[in-house]
Amino acid sequence: MSQNARKILVTSALPYANGPIHIGHLVEYIQTDIWSRFQKMRGHECWYVCADDAHGTPIMLHARKLGIEPEELIERIWKEHNQDFSDFAVAFDNYYSTHSPENQEMANLIYENNRDAGHIERKTISQAFDPEANMFLPDRFIKGTCPKCGTDDQYGDNCEACGATYSPTDLKNPVSAVSGATPTEKDSEHLFFQLSDFEQMLKQWHKAGHVQEEMANKMDEWFEAGLSDWDISRDAPYFGFEIPDAPGKYFYVWLDAPIGYIASFRNLCAKNDALDFDEFWKAGTKTTELYHFIGKDIINFHALFWPAMLHGAGFRMPNAVFAHGFLTVDGAKMSKSRGTFIKARTYLHHLNPEYLRYYFAAKLGSGVDDIDLNLEDFQQRVNSDLVGKVVNIASRNAGFIKKRFAGKLSDKIAEPQLFQSFIDAGDSIAEHYEKREYSRAVREIMALADKANQYIDDKKPWVIAKEDGKDRELHDICSMGINLFRVLIGYLRPILPTTAQASEQFLQVEPLSWDALATPLTGHEIAKFKPLMTRIEREKIDAMVEAEKHSAEKSEPSKPAAKQKPEQANETDSNYISFDDFTKVDLRIAKIVEASHVEGADKLLQLTLDIGEENTRNVFAGIKSAYAPEDLSGKLTVMVANLAPRKMKFGVSEGMVLAAGPGGKELYILEPTDGAKPGMKVK
Ligand code: MSP
Ligand code: ZN
Repeated sequence: MSQNARKILVTSALPYANGPIHIGHLVEYIQTDIWSRFQKMRGHECWYVCADDAHGTPIMLHARKLGIEPEELIERIWKEHNQDFSDFAVAFDNYYSTHSPENQEMANLIYENNRDAGHIERKTISQAFDPEANMFLPDRFIKGTCPKCGTDDQYGDNCEACGATYSPTDLKNPVSAVSGATPTEKDSEHLFFQLSDFEQMLKQWHKAGHVQEEMANKMDEWFEAGLSDWDISRDAPYFGFEIPDAPGKYFYVWLDAPIGYIASFRNLCAKNDALDFDEFWKAGTKTTELYHFIGKDIINFHALFWPAMLHGAGFRMPNAVFAHGFLTVDGAKMSKSRGTFIKARTYLHHLNPEYLRYYFAAKLGSGVDDIDLNLEDFQQRVNSDLVGKVVNIASRNAGFIKKRFAGKLSDKIAEPQLFQSFIDAGDSIAEHYEKREYSRAVREIMALADKANQYIDDKKPWVIAKEDGKDRELHDICSMGINLFRVLIGYLRPILPTTAQASEQFLQVEPLSWDALATPLTGHEIAKFKPLMTRIEREKIDAMVEAEKHSAEKSEPSKPAAKQKPEQANETDSNYISFDDFTKVDLRIAKIVEASHVEGADKLLQLTLDIGEENTRNVFAGIKSAYAPEDLSGKLTVMVANLAPRKMKFGVSEGMVLAAGPGGKELYILEPTDGAKPGMKVK
């Protein structure tokens, strides 16, 4: 670790242990994970901790409904969450639970410190009470008729039909969603955190730039409206921690939830002797940094209550709170009935997690704007950027290195200036990552990828490969291509950790650090190239959305989504291929940009095919009997784009064009009509 290595602790908001992780959540965990991986790659010490948020009335009631103890429910969900995150390559250094001894100890401590400093008051308030279930009712557990529009079966705080907001006592014919009884009003003593004690401190803290601008504006509104005291207690029955000096009363879930950040870190310290808990959490600590990533819906908890509680208890305050916006799908709120409320697990059954990581990164900035997952754009962007540009560089060059040069890269860098321009771009890319401007980082990286492809297009290794005495040149060009690929994948590594890892295996190098990128690989042996990523098929996206629609009809939130059963062809009948086999064939419109005779071949023509997105293929086609090269140049045709490359006597053929006819002069390539464009999928 270098001398100016920073020590950073970073968190994401703790997901409720009440249901599955969905792609909306993933915006945040992926955003944070990219940042944490970036910091680590830069040589800093960075700890990413999180936990399940396990307490509260909804979780208690959910467990009751399933006929199990809440402990069993949260244990089950913890396992699911943990698996989902790990399958999305979200690499927590610790993933814990707020229902833990460390959290209870910390919650008590923070409460007691605040109490002893005079920041807690007791007041008696009146609340809705369910006389049958014998419990107080949170707003969302009271249902009734909307006082405004008269729609039945509306929740206690707002009407889904007309959008009115109100208090539960305004509802007509209110009933408890727990027992169906009519709620009564009942008095009870509650504990309140005196937020107004911290007004000056909070105002200063916000001015000092610890929150985003949009957040600071929001804060100003709250300050103007006046800070009210915060109710931090709930009466039994409640699933949470009992308040030490108030028997039968429990900490409200939002009191101990952020303390879960501390508890998770404390738990990590217990497993790692090198970590000093106090260095990260003591008031006034200067050697460490603390950042919270959150969604914009929970800003008040993180930019008001949380810093105040920390301050009041003598703990350090966060260096910054970073809020992000909400995810929409195809421009609308995620919806179960439309199948766009996509669970992490459902996604994983159909698609590669790196696609989503990349797409989110390509859309994320440092602000709180909502981000949209447009399914069409998602497919196109991933296919064109990752498959068409980045992975393509490796695949275009790797074959020659392996076959013609025994897998060994050239001793020299053919274009030092080009290579250096890639390295020079690193500072600005790093700056974008640091500032959470991932979309800008991605844009710069893709501009470099274009440059790398341009270089290969100009040098045409597939042409040089056939010329005599040009071995040296071919070697240098392809080695250059591989080196440019290495830098690109290095820059993308925080976003695409799994693809980066596969690339490191292909390159036979240690995990790439940012600093290491500047030293190119020369005279180095690389492994056989295996496809690093395949294209997204629209069918996969559609199947995922369909699966969610079906599960919405059944709808038990914590059940894993049903596995898709692939359709089976009748395997005894060899005249058939299965529908699945058929959908595997990637037929594309291709433009013949170059056609030429092949020395010594009497049936073949060599074609350079453009299949869009600056992706070209070299194909040997047995159509010489019917076509002269000059007839073909500029024509559109149809090719099988995902045929495994085949080594032929004259070179590698990367696909196949389709032609019909008995043969000889009567052989016709397929020619799509006007309007077809290179790269279009044939359906
Ligand atoms: N348990 C609280 C957080 C406690 S932090 C001390 C909570 N949980 S949550 O499961 O509802 O949300 C977890 C995080 O995911 C929040 O930051 C929330 O903003 C974020 N998101 C949940 N749905 C989201 C989208 N649809 N889009 C983007 N982020 C979303 O809040
Ligand atoms: Zn209404």
